[in-house]
Amino acid sequence: MLAKHNPQLNRHGELIHLLSTEGLSRDILTHILDTATNFVSINDREVKKVPLLRGKSVFNLFFENSTRTRTTFEIAAKRLSADVLNLDISRSSTAKGETLLDTIANLSAMAADLFVVRHSQSGAPYLIAQHVAPHVHVVNAGDGRHGHPTQGLLDMYTIRHYKKDFTNLSVAIVGDVLHSRVARSDIHALTTLGCPDLRVVGPSTLVPENFSAMGARVVHSLDEGIRDADVIIMLRLQNERMSGALLPSSQEYFKKFGLTPERLRLAKPDAIVMHPGPINRGVEIASEVVDGDQSVILPQVTFGIAVRMAVMSIVAGNEA
Ligand code: CP
Repeated sequence: MLAKHNPQLNRHGELIHLLSTEGLSRDILTHILDTATNFVSINDREVKKVPLLRGKSVFNLFFENSTRTRTTFEIAAKRLSADVLNLDISRSSTAKGETLLDTIANLSAMAADLFVVRHSQSGAPYLIAQHVAPHVHVVNAGDGRHGHPTQGLLDMYTIRHYKKDFTNLSVAIVGDVLHSRVARSDIHALTTLGCPDLRVVGPSTLVPENFSAMGARVVHSLDEGIRDADVIIMLRLQNERMSGALLPSSQEYFKKFGLTPERLRLAKPDAIVMHPGPINRGVEIASEVVDGDQSVILPQVTFGIAVRMAVMSIVAGNEA
């Protein structure tokens, strides 16, 4: 039987687009994290630039809102010496009915080398990757509920930074797993990297049983889900992606699934608390936890720059 074609890889198995953490080998994930380690030290230098993407044009196409991802991609591309163009989608011709592929064709005619794409439709970055010229690369910056691979990778970087080894960790992903592209990207990466105890935690309306097919244990009690965990990844309630009443109220949700300092004591004493942002204080997480000693939420953002530098330099360095 023929092996399933992975559109992210060239015929030598090298990464040419980053569309998902699903289907990436442990070697590729580790190579990205190791490359990011080298870039972290560049970010501490007075002159924070390397010439790896000099002469290349990176187009940031964000069809959905973003603070962290858009900004850190821009910083990362500039630190790699690329020319960066941020398309203002609300003022672009997509607002006049131009199709996504026509927009991409026109930007390609301006000699784009790499597209960073966030879109509300799952699969949009795959569609673009199918239609660009062989020398053009596509990086998924979040597509619908499907994936947010650079967030998944920066989460893996953060976990490895604080915990060193994935193969002895208990990791709890807590909250609105159903609507979370971050949760899916994290689950694929954590299982590939050998995490032996992965729990997805939340009410049954937001954490359906079928997540167990991805290699995670489904738990509907916060206390049970975070007990003795090394890493807790909290997720925002994605009200904008919910249809119908999946929850009673945000106060009720906080009472049952909000991470408070008291509840955090159920995890290991050196557990780290992560969150991809944007956070909703008092809904999924208490302010005291966000600002507490175990929170690594802001270091996640900083590591995101080095991880995005790693991803862009790796894909742009490989030929289709
Ligand atoms: N984590 C994340 O994707 O944040 P933004 O929506 O601000 O990019």
